[in-house]
Amino acid sequence: MSKRVKAEYDLVIVGSGIAGLSFALKVAEAGYRVAIFTKKDKAESNTNYAQGGIAAVTSAKDDLDKHVEDTLEAGDGLCDPEIVREILRDGPARIQDLAEMGVSFSSLNDGRISLGKEGGHSKRRVLHVKDVTGKAIEDALLANIAKQGVTLFEHYFAIDLITAKKVRKLGVKVEGNGDRILGIYFFDANRDRVITVSAPVVLLATGGAGQTYLYTTNPSIATGDGVAMASRIGLSAMNLEFMQFHPTTLHSNNGDRFLITEAVRGEGVKLIDSRGKPFLKKYHPLADLAPRDVVARAIDREMKKSGSAFVRLDTPNMKGDFPDRFPNIYENCLKRGVDAVNQPIPVVPAAHYSCGGIPTELDCSTKLKGLYACGEVACTGLHGANRLASNSLLEAVVMAHRGAEAVCAFLASRKKTKVSLPQWVDGDVPASDERVVLSHNLDELKRTMWDYVGIVRSTKRLERARSRLRNLEREINEYYWNAKVDLSLLEVRNLVCVAELIVRSALKRQESRGLHYTLDYPDLAEEAVNTLVVPLRR
Ligand code: FAD
Ligand code: SIN
Repeated sequence: MSKRVKAEYDLVIVGSGIAGLSFALKVAEAGYRVAIFTKKDKAESNTNYAQGGIAAVTSAKDDLDKHVEDTLEAGDGLCDPEIVREILRDGPARIQDLAEMGVSFSSLNDGRISLGKEGGHSKRRVLHVKDVTGKAIEDALLANIAKQGVTLFEHYFAIDLITAKKVRKLGVKVEGNGDRILGIYFFDANRDRVITVSAPVVLLATGGAGQTYLYTTNPSIATGDGVAMASRIGLSAMNLEFMQFHPTTLHSNNGDRFLITEAVRGEGVKLIDSRGKPFLKKYHPLADLAPRDVVARAIDREMKKSGSAFVRLDTPNMKGDFPDRFPNIYENCLKRGVDAVNQPIPVVPAAHYSCGGIPTELDCSTKLKGLYACGEVACTGLHGANRLASNSLLEAVVMAHRGAEAVCAFLASRKKTKVSLPQWVDGDVPASDERVVLSHNLDELKRTMWDYVGIVRSTKRLERARSRLRNLEREINEYYWNAKVDLSLLEVRNLVCVAELIVRSALKRQESRGLHYTLDYPDLAEEAVNTLVVPLRR
């Protein structure tokens, strides 16, 4: 693989999770010059940690209508039913692609595919590779990227998008009147410099924003960079208030939140309270397999009632062999002092998945010509107010296929033009604060989001969060404009931007729907509407 960054590509992809890699493979197959840039090691992504699996209708006992119904039910009235059907319909074909690329989904002794069950699914339909589905998919996609010779650059951080409107303001001549994408600035952490890359098409596949919260299942890369970049060029973000809290992560005193997949409950394990009693029947007819928002709220309530720091998953009572079905979880619990075969696992909810994001059409296009978004960073209308478990990997791989077809058509029809993009200018004044202030800002941001924008909200708490975040945003931006950029500064700048957007979205939604539950508006509004927000300052 050549490792020199060229000044121009046909398609620049930001992110090397399931969305970015799947998209790259299909556009490169058509002969276009594709480059993937990723901010850390190539496998480091939410995708790599996915456990439960990927949902699709592959059994004769299941059908598309049921998958659609379950998705709509979980989404609490906010999914777009046509989009749900379109995306889910393509699931089986994309599963077939993954299998052909080398993903060996777990099978039963008789050779049939093993299907797991998770919250909100009326049927067993979750294909998995034991409990390391994401790693198996990431490894297979990366192997295919290498085989096809697609260029992938590690440790390049996308800072900001370059648009026609922006460069015209700087006096650069750009053909035509309309706005469109022209390229992107990257911080090259290998050489500690900023580079400019031109491209008529840019794909944001930057994943989620779980790191806006103190406790999260997400790895450190999940800092909402794509949403922040898009909003800085004036694009609205949609439905950001719907941060999904996963009900079951291993409780620990050091703040680490290792996921315990919902598939564990799919194998019959129940959540139990401090007295050892199952409690979910009180909250929903589907009890332990109710949709995720219901289970997370129920746990929150039980913990508040009892004063206990966690509830427990009653794994010793699971029928079947826990270490064989969930080897990764078993090992990780053991490492942290919990033997899941002999003792229940203490669990708590944690921020997990961003249901909102950059609004896209069914071909991944955004409102800006040439800019596409795919995967967790995008908001297609599939998840509504609460994503159905294991629909995320599916959405990413289905949408990447559709988007890649659209991008190939766009590239084939476009008229080539050349623009000299302005080079990056770093802040040349040393920042006035000490560097340590930035990490204090980050701690305060994550704590604020956890304490005031969590599972149960109120207007007063959200307003408190808004005013704290505005102060933080001012301080962080002042630092940003005066300092030389680096990775942590760039991430904090994006985190505060996205956190503020989440809070403003939550304040706009004056009802309780799906993942957004507020004491001040406990009921559903009559009409289900999407929330759109743009940053106050850019
Ligand atoms: P990611 O896989 O997160 O990839 C984002 C990429 O963008 C990374 O390579 C990152 O480094 C890069 N990036 C980000 N910002 C920048 C930047 N500024 N510059 C350069 N590169 C950047 N979903 C399911 O459907 N089933 C599951 O079983 C499941 N289990 C999960 C378990 C865990 C622990 C977690 C955290 C999530 C799980 N999810 C699951 C959700 C699912 O894994 C993610 O939604 C999905 O993998 C997102 O894929 P993506 O390609 O959009 O983003
Ligand atoms: C899990 O395995 O419980 C996570 C699945 C998901 O987020 O879809």
